[in-house]
Amino acid sequence: MQETIAQILARESAGGQVCARGWLRTARHSKNVSFLELSDGSGFAGLQVVASPELGEYEEVVRHLATGCAVAVEGALVESQGKGQRWELQASRVELVGGVDDDYPLQKKRHTLEFLRSLGHLRGRTNTLGAVLRVRNAASRAIHDFFQERGFIHLHSPIVTLSDAEGAGEMFRVSTLDAASPPRGEDGAVDFSQDFFGSEAHLTVSGQLEAEIAALSHSRVYTFGPTFRSENSNTTRHLAEFWMVEPELAFCDLSQVAELAEEFLKELFSAVLEARPDDFEFFEKRISPGLLDTLAHVVDTPFERMSYDEAIAILERSGQSFEFPVEWGIDLQSEHERYLAEEHVKRPLVVTDYPKDIKAFYMYVNDDGRTVRALDVLVPGVGEIIGGSQREHRHDVLLERIRELGLPEEQYWWYLDLRRYGSVPHAGFGLGFERVIQFMTGMANIRDVIPFPRVPGSAEF
Ligand code: 4AD
Ligand code: MG
Repeated sequence: MQETIAQILARESAGGQVCARGWLRTARHSKNVSFLELSDGSGFAGLQVVASPELGEYEEVVRHLATGCAVAVEGALVESQGKGQRWELQASRVELVGGVDDDYPLQKKRHTLEFLRSLGHLRGRTNTLGAVLRVRNAASRAIHDFFQERGFIHLHSPIVTLSDAEGAGEMFRVSTLDAASPPRGEDGAVDFSQDFFGSEAHLTVSGQLEAEIAALSHSRVYTFGPTFRSENSNTTRHLAEFWMVEPELAFCDLSQVAELAEEFLKELFSAVLEARPDDFEFFEKRISPGLLDTLAHVVDTPFERMSYDEAIAILERSGQSFEFPVEWGIDLQSEHERYLAEEHVKRPLVVTDYPKDIKAFYMYVNDDGRTVRALDVLVPGVGEIIGGSQREHRHDVLLERIRELGLPEEQYWWYLDLRRYGSVPHAGFGLGFERVIQFMTGMANIRDVIPFPRVPGSAEF
């Protein structure tokens, strides 16, 4: 396999012939020489190519090269005369692989991120989206490393499911019924027993319930897959399709899983910082000055811990005027979460033991009867990045919760069964992958940290 540009630039010494292929970020032509910057996406830096007149037969090709052209270049790797890079390529052969039409939209000037969203097919070639993609990749690898090194089994949880894992009804239906005239039962309701899966099916909102199945046979598992929510939230932190990492551990309680979440985030941040210094230099300079200090601080400092009760008390004492008034029992809104993380503790914090009425049916009910063993990890700038809990492993308490909430009991029969056959305390959490990438990179909008964002009204690319 041919070297990538990142591998060429990482060579120990100059000298020797190399061949590089990619797309031109810039092409500057003067009378005697052309300077090309070639990028193949493998690293932040492109390869500087100097094409001088001795090129003979290739001179004509070079003269017409413009930003966006796909080219293959061969030549000698030499020490660079210019600033910023060690090596450059002295071209001896240049081939135009794919030309660009004159209306190529990514010319030199900087574009807004919003404009780039309308160019989902090209924006990966820009500095920002290029860096985001590499950071996502590094984070993905670090996540697998973290769990694999600790004996977790990677579970491939299903994407199509019959059960609502969060009990919140925010699901996309999966159906092959004729939308215009579906079969109907005597009561006039759509007869999903004639549908593809013989039942009403949806895209999963979380792999948790299946992760619980696997944790009760394999003890420590994690999922890492796409999840889907049809909540109509047009915010900078919500996607309709996002990736979630969900570890689940048998013989585990809330405080142990809170410790795991902290260790996990810290390791993730340091691994990704180490893997992608070039991209982080860019995010620090161009996207979010101070980012590197913030991340270093997060890695070095213990996370704050507080109960929901304490969080409410702090918010009440804060003297802030929030859009959503604070009282015990409310679901913490983003403004509350951010006040706590950004203003109050100035670092990540883990809030535990939320009121049971605002949390999902599967959470372990505390002895006080009004709170559950839930945890959220809140970070400055983003708010919630992790949601988790100790699970209700007592059959009767769980059944009562399902009934209390009016959930379709028959759908959860196997979930209840697990509480009858060797049930053990277990716990887990879900990390929103895009939220954590937002936090790491300082990117303001979640639509710019996923290559193909799905949000209300938009799924083109
Ligand atoms: O807090 P959530 O809803 O928790 C669960 O789904 C649990 N089943 C996880 C578990 O215990 N195994 O979602 C987990 C995380 C949130 O903290 C947030 O980071 C992210 O998923 N998230 C979203 N990210 C982007 N867009 C959305 N619409 C999101 N909804 C949740
Ligand atoms: Mg949550």
